[in-house]
Amino acid sequence: MSPSMKSMKVVGTGRALPERVLSNEDLEKMVDTSDEWISERTGIKERRIADDGTATSDIVAEALVKACRQGGVKPGELDAIVVATSTPDTVYPATGCWVQKKLGISGMPAFDVSAGCSGFLFALEIVANLISTGTARKAVAAGGEVMSKVVNWEDRATCVLFGDGAGAALCVPGDGSSGLSAFTWGCDGNLAPLLYQPAGGTRLPTSQETLSAMQHTVHMEGNKVFKHAVRAMSEGALRVVEESGIEVGDVKLLIPHQANTRIMEATRVRVGIPEEKMYSVVHKYGNMSAATIPVALDEAREEGLIEDGDYVALTAFGTGFTWASAMLRW
Ligand code: ACO
Repeated sequence: MSPSMKSMKVVGTGRALPERVLSNEDLEKMVDTSDEWISERTGIKERRIADDGTATSDIVAEALVKACRQGGVKPGELDAIVVATSTPDTVYPATGCWVQKKLGISGMPAFDVSAGCSGFLFALEIVANLISTGTARKAVAAGGEVMSKVVNWEDRATCVLFGDGAGAALCVPGDGSSGLSAFTWGCDGNLAPLLYQPAGGTRLPTSQETLSAMQHTVHMEGNKVFKHAVRAMSEGALRVVEESGIEVGDVKLLIPHQANTRIMEATRVRVGIPEEKMYSVVHKYGNMSAATIPVALDEAREEGLIEDGDYVALTAFGTGFTWASAMLRW
């Protein structure tokens, strides 16, 4: 057991995925691309797309309710709700507040974490601290995105990569044997312009000009993101293995941020984890940013791949640039 273990237990997980499926074949009819190009470069075959009327809080609320149900907790009994998202319902208030409104609950703090694809792990670290210090006894860390509303559907270099979805984890105090056995995170804001949404904030408020130039959508230098992502995700995963006082071979499952298969594979190889121990959902959901890890965690758990005492390595990288890695002792 690592001396820095933050004691808590994940007693419920949940996910929400919009019903509409957009396949690579569908995308072939929208932009100049092919199933072959997308599959080879990213491993993505299809992704989910939210309806016009669906916002991030709608799917986060659904995932949160499922996680709470599994853990036998009513959403209104939660002591804190932390939502990771880069696609909030509104600039303010936070998506967490809209989740409360949707569920008709109030009182507990509900706020957002903006850390891109690393966001869920940032949220999990915050919740682990709240629980292990006794500030909260029941708290949810969630990640949710409606990426489809912030991508440029005419830009083939980005629109094929993303998808919509949400996942949540309900955490309660543990008996000391479960929790975050190690955690590391960081950020390099100097690299912010490599992946960002230029307009819609105070730097460049939305105007007719920004709309015409599609500056309210994702702008990314994919090649540069790739290299940084692999290095940060693999180094972080190795660090939490070491700080947990275990060997790579002791890791039951590696759940990396699901940006694309090539990034995930390169990370897995650098960490030295066998293929069968890496869990992937990217082929069916695409890159759901902050939602990829909690959605994958929920599916892995549902498949019975995680049992008490298992070490689950989570590692992520995203806009900012941000990065985070966690070793979750189940
Ligand atoms: N279909 C067909 N051709 C395309 C497409 C497409 N959808 N997109 C780009 N191309 C073309 C380009 O125009 C270019 O053509 P050219 O050589 O004639 O100029 C060619 O394909 C190669 O383009 P590159 O951008 O160099 O392709 P690359 O091999 O780098 O793959 C990719 C692009 C998949 C985006 C890769 O850089 C990558 O995986 N980057 C990581 C980015 C990412 O996943 N970001 C998500 C957010 S951050 C995160 O989650 C960690």
